[in-house]
Amino acid sequence: MDEKRKVIFSGIQPSGELTLGSYMGAIRNWVDLSGQYDCYYCIVDMHAITVRQNPAELRRRSISQLAQYIACGLDPEKNTLFIQSHVAEHAQLGWVLDCYTMFGELSRMTQFKDKSAKNAENINAGLFTYPSLMAADILLYQTDLVPVGSDQKQHVELSRDIALRFNGIYGDVFTIPEPFIPQAGARIMSLTTPQNKMSKSDKDPGGCIYILQKPEEILRCFKRAVTDSDTERCVRYDPEAKPGVSNLMQIYACATGKTFPEIEAEFDGKGYGDFKTAVGESVVELLRPIREKTEDLMKNKDYLSSILRSGAEKASRTASRTLRKVYKKVGFVER
Ligand code: TRP
Repeated sequence: MDEKRKVIFSGIQPSGELTLGSYMGAIRNWVDLSGQYDCYYCIVDMHAITVRQNPAELRRRSISQLAQYIACGLDPEKNTLFIQSHVAEHAQLGWVLDCYTMFGELSRMTQFKDKSAKNAENINAGLFTYPSLMAADILLYQTDLVPVGSDQKQHVELSRDIALRFNGIYGDVFTIPEPFIPQAGARIMSLTTPQNKMSKSDKDPGGCIYILQKPEEILRCFKRAVTDSDTERCVRYDPEAKPGVSNLMQIYACATGKTFPEIEAEFDGKGYGDFKTAVGESVVELLRPIREKTEDLMKNKDYLSSILRSGAEKASRTASRTLRKVYKKVGFVER
């Protein structure tokens, strides 16, 4: 038999609609990894309720997120696609790991500090212990690599520390995971405040593009995208001096496969208006088949349910093996 393939785990919260940033920064890379690795891609609904959600919306978005994963090219035959709350081991291991995670460590997490500042009326215990649940997600599958954006690196490093601590006491129980930050070109910024990452929690609706957004709206957002007020007024890649234009170039490069020099040549002597229109159109064409495929899949709920069922079954098989080992190590009586 061939060598055991390395394991990849990643997840996105169904706390909002998937964005162009999540496609270009995450899902597109996940698709590329599918062939080489044993991949688990999760819809982390348990993480989403650390912030108050509308129940009907959360349910709809979780299913739509699965449809979008598939429409983006994640083949459910080659990847394990599932919903976190379908696999009870996440909550079970999460509790055990809470007991091996230090208050001080959790207090240092920058996402906790940011989110508690933003949700001052609901700083719940789940928001605080969120990273140990994330560690459980990762460690249950004996994950080698965790593709995440740079904002999640601190959480993956904490998962590593928790795994090392647990292994240090009980022997080799967990594979030690590593963050896997995708190559350059993945960090898509807001169209209106290009200093910030494109985010579904952006208060400015024009800053964020959604995978399922209508073409007219996408074009409108790109027309209004911020360019830079430097005197040069030409399309040139320079994220320091020209963050707005450089972000648009990044998006255009991702959508068309063109290189930065090719893009600079294409718009040489043209205004920012032409450039923004071209970027908008390239994104519309990139997203069109994904939106259409998602709409088709959403008409076939039985199919989506069957994918979720087999995804959860497959995930459970691996997860229960790890959990059984952990329960034994910590001294729980076998059922
Ligand atoms: N915390 C991640 C985010 O907000 C989502 C997430 C939850 C995750 N569990 C994970 C990512 C495990 C990678 C691996 O983006």
